[in-house]
Formats: sequence, C-alpha cells, structure tokens
Amino acid sequence: MSYSTLLVEVDSEGIAVVTINRPTKLNALNAEVLADLDDWFTSAATDSAVKGIILTGAGPKAFVAGADISQFKELGPVEGKAFADYGQGVFNKIEGSAKPVVAAVNGFALGGGSELALACHMRVASDNALFGQPEVNLGILPGYGATQRLPRIVGKGIATELILSGNMVNAERAHAIGLVNHVYTSEELLPGARKLIGTIISKAPIAVAFSLEALQYADLPQAEGLQKEADLFGQACGTDDFQEGVDAFLGKRKAVFKGK
Ligand code: COA
Repeated sequence: MSYSTLLVEVDSEGIAVVTINRPTKLNALNAEVLADLDDWFTSAATDSAVKGIILTGAGPKAFVAGADISQFKELGPVEGKAFADYGQGVFNKIEGSAKPVVAAVNGFALGGGSELALACHMRVASDNALFGQPEVNLGILPGYGATQRLPRIVGKGIATELILSGNMVNAERAHAIGLVNHVYTSEELLPGARKLIGTIISKAPIAVAFSLEALQYADLPQAEGLQKEADLFGQACGTDDFQEGVDAFLGKRKAVFKGK
C-alpha cells in the first residue's frame, strides 16, 4: 500500500523505515499525515514482515516542524478539542505498538513533531536536531501529549521550562536531559537507528512486546505496576520462546526465537 505523505521501506530483516514526506513544509503534520500514520501503524501491527520501526522525516532540515499551522485558523474551542483528541489517538497507537519504534530525529522536532518523537519508544538524533515546544508562541499549549509524556521522560522541572519558555534544545542538551538515547552525525543517524532496532528485533518478540507493555505501566502506582509486570512475566513463561531461550543458554548455543 502506498501513502501520499509517507515513504515506507521494509528491509529483509523486518526493519521498516517510515519517512514523513512533506519536506517543503518541514514535514508539518496535517490531517493527511496523521491519517496515513494511523493507517500504517494499524496495518503494521498485523504485518509479519514488519518487526521494528524507524520513524524519520524527509530532507536534511526537519524531522517534523510541528502540527500544520495553516490548519489552525479553523480551530475554535470545539474543533481544538477534537484536533487534540484525534492527534493523541494516533500517537497513543504509536506508543502502544507491540513492535519497537525509534524516532530518528534529523533536524527540527517542534511542537507536534517533538510530541511525535515522545510517543515513540526511543529517540535518537542527528547532531543538528533541535527539539522544542513552541506552542506558547501561538497562544496555545501542547495538545498531542507533551504535557504528559515530556515530564515522564525528562522530569517535571525541565519539561515545565521547555513548555513554558518555548525554548529549543539542541541534540547535545537533549542527550544530557535524557530526551534522546544517542546522537549521531546526519550520515550515521539511520545506520545508528537500524543498529538499535536490529539488536532489539533479534530478541524474543513476545518478550520485547511484553516489556514494552510493562514499561507503559511505569506510570501507575508502583504496586499496581509490579502486579502487571508479574502477570506478563507469568505469560512469558508460557511461551515456546522462553523454553528455547533457556535451552539455548544451557546448551551453549544461540537461541532461535519464533515469536510463539
Ligand atoms: N506548519 C505549517 N508550515 C510550516 C510549519 C508548520 N508547523 N513549519 C514550517 N512550515 C513551512 C513554512 O511555512 C515554509 O513554507 P513556505 O515555504 O511555503 O513559506 C516552509 O515550511 C519552510 O519553513 P521556513 O519557516 O521558511 O524555514 P526556516 O528555516 O526559516 O524556519 C522553523 C524553520 C522551524 C524555525 C520555522 O519554520 C518555524 O518556526 N516553524 C513553526 C514551528 C512551530 O511553531 N511548530 C509548532 C506548531 S504547534
């Protein structure tokens, strides 16, 4: 299936590189991009050819420079709430993916672009990346998740400063505050993201999916989260891959996981 705003390539290993492709508008998120992302992530969930996902932006300048501001003129209170609800729904789907998703941030990640990266499971950046939540400059606040996800990733104090000031942070600072896991040159960004996803998809797929699910419960009160972890641990112990992992270790050989 082809998309008007996305370029998708899936390699033989099962790594899908999904590129948001509106470079002349710095890959700003309009309704079409959100619908395409929603549709692609829905189909990728059941596509056995896709094992891990890299999300990036077309061109040398931007990952995503935000929600498409040209749409904002139409927004009143009712439309604004619907706009935020819809975008949040798409981003929740990305965050809820059972397959690992890495944002490869190759330039501006502003507003909804920063929030899209926050909804991915991990972020890596090129050394020219700039992150920011500039919504206050437009008389609004983030609507696609930054007030909730950013403090969970970088802590409330730093998130508050970023959201209230609209200041951008560069890749070095983003790394220092834990917003990105690794920083690469522009040329090394996709190879670096591939290496990270490649490592993850070589592991037992159900264990990876359950780990992603358990990590989402890190926001629950700890006792509840621990209970969820124990439930998922029990389920993992019922998989063939668990038997295989243990047998392979004890037999001093490499495990061959089947995702069962
Ligand atoms: N929505 C719609 N269009 C956008 C956009 C956005 N969020 N960000 C960039 N664009 C468009 C510009 O309007 C311009 O289009 P044009 O060539 O048809 O005029 C094109 O992308 C290139 O952007 P430009 O502003 O010329 O590039 P720049 O290098 O001078 O500045 C930015 C780059 C990112 C600093 C600047 O584009 C910007 O501030 N964008 C908005 C960021 C923002 O507030 N995002 C949050 C929205 S909630």
